[in-house]
Amino acid sequence: MTRPLIVGNWKMNTLRHTAMALAQDIGSRYADTSADERGFDLMVCPPFPYLPTVGEAIAGSGVALGAQDCHAAGGGAHTGDVAAEMLADIGCTAVILGHSERRTDHGEIDLAVSEKARAAHRAGLIAIICIGETEAERDAGQAADICARQIAGSVPKGAVAEDTVIAYEPVWAIGTGRTPTAADVADMHGHIRGELSRFLDDADRVRLLYGGSVKPGNAIQLLSVPNVDGALVGGASLSAEDFWAIAQSS
Ligand code: PGA
Repeated sequence: MTRPLIVGNWKMNTLRHTAMALAQDIGSRYADTSADERGFDLMVCPPFPYLPTVGEAIAGSGVALGAQDCHAAGGGAHTGDVAAEMLADIGCTAVILGHSERRTDHGEIDLAVSEKARAAHRAGLIAIICIGETEAERDAGQAADICARQIAGSVPKGAVAEDTVIAYEPVWAIGTGRTPTAADVADMHGHIRGELSRFLDDADRVRLLYGGSVKPGNAIQLLSVPNVDGALVGGASLSAEDFWAIAQSS
């Protein structure tokens, strides 16, 4: 049985003092819970400037630290970018890649996501690769094909279950309060598992997260869907109470 992973994607939110308070709250909840009840892995992904602050706040708690992007290169003349090696150096164990907001805001295409994932692996980080269809694509009946194409293009050769997580985030569900039905999530996650098995020998062990408007009120339903091994949580991860309630639903 795969251990669920609950990831908080803080996006471009918090300031140093709110990031620290949020991280401390989440860290102490996790640290104070007995190993028996702590049947899930927890990770927070703050903005770049607060990674060290948050890293210190969660030190020793068991909560993992992740970033929200990295560059494909290990270093060099790339103004404003951050190398995966730098993230590993300051204590990150994972990086979110190919989020739909990066695909939209920064024109990231599958090839770029795959190169970033390769960089993450080179640096010893887990690549959390995001995929998902837009509403127009879903309405046109293309959701399954889009996700298959994104997997084929964004997951690098040589990826294994230990270093790769896939987050299915339908674009129309992100920050909207709308979610697919449990049946739709089950269909898509089954499909994603099948597509992954074309490229990975251990696809059955890759953690598949659902993301998009996960809240305390829908977490039990979404997290109990077959092939859903955790959640990528945006808005609700900015409240320690809500994030914790979601994690406890896994
Ligand atoms: P949301 O965001 O939970 O606010 O919908 C999820 C995400 O974009 O990762």
